[in-house]
Amino acid sequence: MSNLHKPAATEAKLHEVIANRWSPRSFDSSHTLHDSEINSLLEAARWSPSSMNAQPWRFLVGLRNDKNFAGLVSTLMENNLEWAPKTSAIILVAATAKEVSMIETYDVGLAVGALTTQAQAMGLHTHQMGGFSKSKVKQIFSLPPDTEPIVLIGVGKIGQPTELSPTLMEREVAPRVRKPLTELMLKGL
Ligand SMILES: Cc1cc2nc3c(=O)[nH]c(=O)nc-3n(C[C@H](O)[C@H](O)[C@H](O)COP(=O)(O)O)c2cc1C
Repeated sequence: MSNLHKPAATEAKLHEVIANRWSPRSFDSSHTLHDSEINSLLEAARWSPSSMNAQPWRFLVGLRNDKNFAGLVSTLMENNLEWAPKTSAIILVAATAKEVSMIETYDVGLAVGALTTQAQAMGLHTHQMGGFSKSKVKQIFSLPPDTEPIVLIGVGKIGQPTELSPTLMEREVAPRVRKPLTELMLKGL
């Protein structure tokens, strides 16, 4: 089976980088990322807009086989443990502020959006994970008290879906779905 391509069934014209991004669980465990590639991903995030230009995003990078990667993997919930260790890198994205509020979380989300789009443009795939222990991350990496883990992002080259368990394989090949645009519209005047 060749690598899966799951473009969005769009209701309007879309740039291919956006239409083609999706979150696989099959990653090529022999692929490694160059520092320059990681830097490009972080640079895309760094140039995101943020409220008052506060830039509340913080990052920690684990490359497969290094200590940070192992530390991040040890915080994963079981559903992510089957596939995420095969990614080439796991990036912890955190928010920092005296008290992390919706606005910092929003800013961090924008930065992650830029990072994932940059990855797609570079021929890489990303898969975000909320399924990890934030308290463990805080403890293992001794995060400062004003720094809240938000999400982990697995990054790498897409692999063969046939290497996944039957349950994950089924999810991998399932079509991507979204609510119709009409359902997302608020009632105007
Ligand atoms: C904040 C956030 C947390 C997520 N957490 C997980 C997770 O823990 N495990 C997982 O397999 N996917 C996770 N996902 C991936 C979503 O399930 C996925 O993006 C969604 O189903 C849409 O699929 P697509 O990205 O392929 O379009 C997460 C995505 C986001 C944005």
